[in-house]
Amino acid sequence: MHPVKKAYCRVFQVILHIAIPFLPYRRPQVLSSVTDIPGCLEKKRLCNVLIVTDGFLHISGMLEPLKRALAEADIRYTVYDEVTPNPTVLNVELARERYLREGCQALIGFGGGSAIDCAKAVGARIARPKKTIPQMRGILKVMRPIPYLIAIPTTAGTGSETTLATVITDDKTAHKFPVNDFPLIPRAAVLDPEMTRSLPKHMTAATGMDALTHAIEAYIGGSTTSQTRRDALEAARLISENLENAYSDGNDMTARANMLQAAFLAGEAFSKSYVGYCHAVAHSLGGKYHTPHGLANAVLLPYVLEAYGPAAERKCKDVAIAMHLAADATPAPEATKALIREIRRMNAAMGIPAKLPGIREGDIHQLAAYADKEANPLYPVPKLMDAGELEQFYYDVMEEQP
Ligand SMILES: [Fe+2]
Repeated sequence: MHPVKKAYCRVFQVILHIAIPFLPYRRPQVLSSVTDIPGCLEKKRLCNVLIVTDGFLHISGMLEPLKRALAEADIRYTVYDEVTPNPTVLNVELARERYLREGCQALIGFGGGSAIDCAKAVGARIARPKKTIPQMRGILKVMRPIPYLIAIPTTAGTGSETTLATVITDDKTAHKFPVNDFPLIPRAAVLDPEMTRSLPKHMTAATGMDALTHAIEAYIGGSTTSQTRRDALEAARLISENLENAYSDGNDMTARANMLQAAFLAGEAFSKSYVGYCHAVAHSLGGKYHTPHGLANAVLLPYVLEAYGPAAERKCKDVAIAMHLAADATPAPEATKALIREIRRMNAAMGIPAKLPGIREGDIHQLAAYADKEANPLYPVPKLMDAGELEQFYYDVMEEQP
């Protein structure tokens, strides 16, 4: 990266870091069951909600306990169930129309990161009727309170239930971009392991590795606080101790509960301390090829850590210690290698491939430009890279072309 751009990125990041104590971060109220939701809504005198979810969760009956709890409390609800795996601007607009038509007063995001992200973006559009979602790309573009929002994660990974971010894809350009602002932090999050019991194995694996990526990218970045460092390392420990158990036995409710806790903590950590190039590249792949977000992160993470090199080794060692892979006496380069080896081992043990299908060489230039636009100057990564340097990651993870 050009030295002038480097200097600009670092100054931008230092200013954001200094501002952390003055910014309106808050933790969502944690609820343990959907039966706690009516009480929350009644306290706010809210009696008509829009549930934002996907079609599979709706027809599978997963919503029934929530619907029952709302009906018993005489709270009206409408369901928008067309959220796609990478939610689009069109999803958001259709859900928003439903919200307005039905006179809703609050939002419930029910599902993985996609459903919760879509609910956040609906909230942003309600708060900002004259701004489109693409016009709110980046940071601090919402700036007005959104309707009361409750997140119910059915995966343990994205951390969307606690973050200020929503990631939306432009239907026309296939550009996947984040919108980050404080009003998007949900007011409450239901962390109920029962909601993740039926999560399929491959999604347990991918979303769990997404949470690990949040913890590592937040920890090794240059904008941490003592709280985000604590949360990130605790998340990494919980993931190393529980993810493979949740993968091999989906009914292991202790592992499921610990993974929900890990995803929440990792979400808290990256909300203040950001992610890194792994996420920026993964988002570009998700927008263009619908590559599942957690899968892309899992495959990319070892390559990104290798590319950071010595700039990340001291902090990678802390993560390795938290994951029981190194001791205080282990030299940082050895600990970093152990961490990278462990990520590859976990991926292989859970059926995650070493490469990603579908990447076309002709798209790489544009995809790297999107990743550069997302990450620079916002993400306080250990080693700065421009679009040209980021291109290498696509070559690293693309399958051999015939
Ligand atoms: Fe993520």
